[in-house]
Amino acid sequence: MDERIDDGTVADGEREAITVLGLGAMGTALAGTLLARGHPTTVCNRTPERADALVAVGARRAAAVADAVAASSLTIACVVDDAAVHELLDRAGDAFRRGVLVNLTNGTPAQARRAAERAADLGVAGYVDGGIMAVPSMMGTPDALVLYSGSREAFAVHRHALESLGATRYLGADPGLASLYDLALLSGMYGMFAGALHAIALVGSERVPAASLTELLLPWLEAMTSGLPSLAEQVDTGDHSSESPLAMQAAALANIVDASRAQGISPELMLPIQRLVERAVAAGHGADDLSSLVGLVAGSGRTPVAVED
Ligand SMILES: NC(=O)c1ccc[n+]([C@@H]2O[C@H](COP(=O)([O-])OP(=O)(O)OC[C@H]3O[C@@H](n4cnc5c(N)ncnc54)[C@H](OP(=O)(O)O)[C@@H]3O)[C@@H](O)[C@H]2O)c1
Repeated sequence: MDERIDDGTVADGEREAITVLGLGAMGTALAGTLLARGHPTTVCNRTPERADALVAVGARRAAAVADAVAASSLTIACVVDDAAVHELLDRAGDAFRRGVLVNLTNGTPAQARRAAERAADLGVAGYVDGGIMAVPSMMGTPDALVLYSGSREAFAVHRHALESLGATRYLGADPGLASLYDLALLSGMYGMFAGALHAIALVGSERVPAASLTELLLPWLEAMTSGLPSLAEQVDTGDHSSESPLAMQAAALANIVDASRAQGISPELMLPIQRLVERAVAAGHGADDLSSLVGLVAGSGRTPVAVED
């Protein structure tokens, strides 16, 4: 049975009242940021003690999800995964009626679309999905980018409050778009870190400290990633002409894999890109730029989607 919120359910002051469901590392950072910005903040977590520190600095604790949701017209959910989101929806019941749900839990586009449907069935006034492109300590700073998509009206009404969390980007009415972009940006990050980890292991095979390499690696990666806009233009125009063609790059990648094995380093982080480049060369793309690899992985699934501000 639902229990009452510790000290009332009504927002006061100029800032909008907000409920945060989920107080892991990220949910705690979100709630702490909202409190610091002056938002009356209600918090609720499966393990209630995780709210103690926030309550000590002014958060209102709700023991039950339904009470937490009823306390604010805007609820932000940030839990471990999609299954946990649905558990929260189960426990909220019809408490979401009239309220807006912003789901900042990492997930897939399909999960976001299903959650939007489920939220609509529960009477949620507006469902917005989001992706947090930041770590907890960055929240509330301009470097914390949060992607949103879903109900345009709900986002517009609560935009000002959401801007407390960091830089804000609304991508469109399809609730799956924020997840799509989130996973795309994470893919870029993981690809970069895969290469960096391999690089550190490779020089480490000769006892070179990681810090000695990163001093060189960072400016190198910055120089190479500065070419991303022209790579994107090549993908969009289909003009893959290159001063660094794939046939040349295939030889370098083979050297990386061979040298890694010779140094006793597993090439597993580099093998996927090496195999893809070899496949591209075998398919007649040896004179093309790296940009042409997008066509090999995308198949017919690449449909450009306009991004909204
Ligand atoms: N941490 C980061 O650097 C970071 C960065 C960007 C995005 N994110 C995203 O933020 C979300 C939360 O991440 P986190 O770092 O806060 O994770 P976390 O520290 O592991 O916390 C997980 C949260 O989910 C709750 N939870 C787990 N299972 C649940 C269930 N069945 N029902 C209700 N609540 C449940 C946990 O409650 P209990 O306390 O009771 O276990 C806890 O509040 C994830 O989607 C993550 O991808 C995290």
